This record gives sequence, structure tokens and C-alpha cells, in this order.
Amino acid sequence: MNRDLIYLDNAATSWPKPEAVGRAMVACLEDEAGNPGRSGHRLSLAASRRVYAVREAVAQLFGAPDPLRVIFTHNATFAVNLALGGLLSPGDRVVCTGMEHNAVMRPLRDLEELGVEVVVAPCDATGRLDLEAFARVVAAGPTRMVALNHASNVTGTLCPVAEAAELAHRAGALVLVDAAQSAGSVPIDMAAMGIDLLAFTGHKGLLGPTGTGGLILGERVNAAEMRPLVQGGTGSRSAMERQPPDLPDRFEAGTINFVGIAGLGAGLEALADLGGPEAVGRWERELARQLWEGLSAIPGVRLFGTADFSQRVAVVSFTVEGRTVSEVGGRLDDEFGILTRVGLHCAPAAHRTIGTFPTGTVRLSPGPFNTPEQIERTIAAVRRIAEGA
Ligand SMILES: Cc1ncc(COP(=O)(O)O)c(C=O)c1O
Repeated sequence: MNRDLIYLDNAATSWPKPEAVGRAMVACLEDEAGNPGRSGHRLSLAASRRVYAVREAVAQLFGAPDPLRVIFTHNATFAVNLALGGLLSPGDRVVCTGMEHNAVMRPLRDLEELGVEVVVAPCDATGRLDLEAFARVVAAGPTRMVALNHASNVTGTLCPVAEAAELAHRAGALVLVDAAQSAGSVPIDMAAMGIDLLAFTGHKGLLGPTGTGGLILGERVNAAEMRPLVQGGTGSRSAMERQPPDLPDRFEAGTINFVGIAGLGAGLEALADLGGPEAVGRWERELARQLWEGLSAIPGVRLFGTADFSQRVAVVSFTVEGRTVSEVGGRLDDEFGILTRVGLHCAPAAHRTIGTFPTGTVRLSPGPFNTPEQIERTIAAVRRIAEGA
């Protein structure tokens, strides 16, 4: 029955998942449910091999220096917390952008209370980072790290990561990139883009299940100086009472989400079968462009973000004059079976930047399995709501 819905909330989590994702997870539970890296028997070894294969696939997708520098976490939020909490100390200075999600803002505001200086570099009203202001802010003091939102979950606007990373490196800072909204829809090469820490989530553009994600450490990051957020058993060096230095074990205490990681592996294969991030991103952007053009012709509809589609992913935020965002989202769901997300999208800073705080926007986020026909139906539905029908 749900297959009749028009799901335009892929920025929250992608849906539907490729069938192979569920199949891979069920196969793990039924046939291979040993604990990876713990015991020496065949089921445990099979699980370890499968996890390593997914680590390799992730490393290859993002141009990571070594699969062992891929740390699996529950989601992007945990990965960002690990990077910030693991590397920043009182007295350090960190620069983020005016488009950050709370996955970055909340841990930063917490670190601020502990004595970390947090500076927010401004973005314009389309969400684009002002590189000149960023350069000034980064150079204004010894900066330990910059945190960049690669693609905004509010406007879809892309951050010029390579240019910003160059400026950050010139100032001696490490570059953390929150790729929650770009991974799977934008090609990412850590070395070419100057990314030192890449936080990704598995359940959005990588088409995997919830409970998966990770942090990838570039070569500039000295893992021995980075504090783990969680400590405990790793199945390795069991005689040690301290967290071992080896990667990825140092940052993967406790049994990892082996079943979810197997699903993530199937998601990555499905993404490759669809042509990879370049092809998927192109398809999604075409749908977003169709939405943008159709919605901008409706009187009373206001769109946010850039109209330059080479500088954005397929996240389209809008408001309708005289209607609350909850009313629009509620009617799209109840009357038309169109699923969206309304409000602040866990990113109050971004809404302040684009001028939609505190009421927020209605967000439409097409994914690889949406069709132009669904987009036409969505535009027609918004038109009816805007016209007061
Ligand atoms: C830009 C951005 N960063 C971080 C996150 C957090 O991702 P997760 O829920 O997988 O932790 C999201 C999720 O919505 C996001 O859009």
C-alpha cells in the first residue's frame, strides 16, 4: 500500500531501500550471525570478512587512504561528535559555517562551555559560504579545525569544500566535512578535496539501513592523539586495560552493527548499479529542477537556496504565503499521499541564515527512485493548496 505514496523525504532517510538491502540483513541474521572480530570460529570470521569488505567499499567510494581508517558509527551524528570531541580541547579554536545542522552545532556549543572557541563563518541568503569572510575568520587566530556542511539539508546548497579546505590548511587547521546530505549524490574524494575527517551516514544517499554511518580519518589526523568517545571491548589486544591504539578498533568499542553494515554494503552495491553518485546526483537534480521550475510559477510560493543547480543537491525548501508549513505538509500527506518534512529540520542556524527562523520551510527531497510524473503530481498538489482549493 505504501508503494502508492510519493516519498519526497529522502533527506531524512532514503526510501524505498533497494530490496537487496533487506535481503543482505536477513541473510546475516539467518546464516552468518557470528560476532565480527570476537571469536575464531567460522561464523565470526565470515562476519569479519563481510565487515571488512564494506569498509573497503566505503574507502573506495570516498578515496579514503586506508580501509582501516574507516570507523563505523551509528550515524553521522556520532561520527561528528567523535571528530569534535576526540580532537578539540579547551583553548582550541574551531570555525564552522552558518549552515550547520545540530549534529555539528550542538556538540560545538557544548564544547564552547568547556572553553573551546567557536566561530561561525557567514553564508549568504542562499546558504552559500562567503569564502572571503571564511578566509578572514580562519586566519584570525590559530584554528585547530574547521567544520563544513557539505550540502545543506535545508536548501541543498553545496559548500565549496576544496577551496575552503585549502584556506583552512594554509592556517594549519584540520578539515571536518559533514557529508550527511552529499554522500551518494555528489562524488567525494577526500584527498582531492582536502578533507581530513569525513562524517557520513549510511541511511540516506548510501541507501543503507538506519544505525549505520562512519567517520573516515585522513592522513593528517593522528589517531593516537584522538580521544575515543566510547571505550570497551574490541576483540583485539584483550590483555590491555586501556583502549588499544590500532585502527579501527580504537574507535569501535563494543559489538558493531554487523547486520546494518551488511545492509549498507548492499546499499553501496545498489548505488553503484544505479551509476554511482555522479549519475544518481544528476537524476535527483533534474527532479529538483523540475520541482523548482514548477513551484516558482505558483503565485505565493517562495523558494529558498540557489537556482544554480551545479551548486546544489536535490533538497528544495519552500513556503506558501498565508499558509503555515505544518498546514502545507499535513495536507500534502493527508490529501495527496505526498511525504515531506516541515519546520526547522534540526538546523536552526541554517534557517537563521536564510531568514526562515523560527517557522521554517516545507522541504521536498527527491531520491533515486522518484519519477518526473511524481514531481508533476507534487507541483499540482502544491498549486491546489496555494490557490486555496
Ligand atoms: C546535514 C546533516 N548533518 C547531519 C545529520 C545527521 O545524520 P544522522 O541522523 O544520520 O546522524 C543530518 C541528518 O538529517 C544532516 O542532514
